[in-house]
Amino acid sequence: MDIDFFGETVSLTLIRPDDWHVHLRDGAMLRAVLPDTARRFARAIVMPNLKAPVRTVAEAHAYRERILAARPAGSDFEPLMTLYLTDNTTAAEIERARASRFVHAVKYYPAGATTNSDSGVTDIERCHDTLAAMEALGLPLLVHGEVTEASVDVFDREAVFIERILARVVARFPRLKVVLEHVTTEDGVAFVRAAPATVGATLTAHHLLLNRNALFRGGLRPHAYCLPVLKRERHRTALLEAATSGNPKFFLGTDSAPHARTAKEAACGCAGLYTAHAGIELYAEVFKAAGALDRLEGFASLHGPAFYGLAPNRDHITLIEESWPVPQAIDLASVGISDSLVPFRAGESVAFRIAGVDG
Ligand code: DOR
Ligand code: ZN
Repeated sequence: MDIDFFGETVSLTLIRPDDWHVHLRDGAMLRAVLPDTARRFARAIVMPNLKAPVRTVAEAHAYRERILAARPAGSDFEPLMTLYLTDNTTAAEIERARASRFVHAVKYYPAGATTNSDSGVTDIERCHDTLAAMEALGLPLLVHGEVTEASVDVFDREAVFIERILARVVARFPRLKVVLEHVTTEDGVAFVRAAPATVGATLTAHHLLLNRNALFRGGLRPHAYCLPVLKRERHRTALLEAATSGNPKFFLGTDSAPHARTAKEAACGCAGLYTAHAGIELYAEVFKAAGALDRLEGFASLHGPAFYGLAPNRDHITLIEESWPVPQAIDLASVGISDSLVPFRAGESVAFRIAGVDG
């Protein structure tokens, strides 16, 4: 990795990054958002929570074909597919997934935890045969780590999930690869650090940049609402420390999750922030502010492939510290949706931009 400080302007070239957690959606929305991810990231772990969840290898294959068909001309972006775990996912499906070469993980949404999670797992004990097959075959379990009980405070749901569920899964399946997705708390960071090397975590740029005050800055801010919800400052500080520590258990996962403006700006607004338009640039901001730009390449381009047993990318991306304005909205008319998408930092600016991507 090369970092040049020309006076105050930083330029850095790193191995091309991957996004280890993204929502690409389907149909017109897929066509609208895929170019942003494909420009920055060579590969991405694609979440399976479509309206009709991606439960089988056959469905993952069909979804993969739709993603490949939606790539911009000339793009060799590689979608790494996932299956949506249900109470009824069979060990045979896991064997098919492993044999497929294109399914790289299985996503565990507790039923009712978030967008399109109604078919999620009601009780992880029901999945023990499936988890045993994943452990035996080396297929990682990606965890949305929040309990769903209405009686548990929304800000405590990650910590309670770790204590009640995740700790048991990790103890029961010691060789199962587990990723605590979009970790948001110091409890989550501490758990992952103390766990065996089989346990990792992804970190979003927005949880590294914002604390929960962002939800209420001058009024209610639906575009800062995601799940797990933003947490208080001491948690953000713990995430920052984990991301910039050089510990290979922590790696990049944007959790970019597009919802049309009308679905966000509503009496019951959807959870999710769209960050793919600045998917690597925002992390560069975070690492620069922390004085840790030399650790960005490990976090963004090396730790994830190592965890998944894949080779790092061969090409490189160059970023320069030069501010650019983020539009107020991205019009979706060009893909046939009469709505828009409000990107992260809409109407504000991002401090790094891409100078080039090369082989
Ligand atoms: O904020 C979120 N949005 N969290 C999730 O877990 C799901 C995602 C989505 O699909 O919109
Ligand atoms: Zn997600």
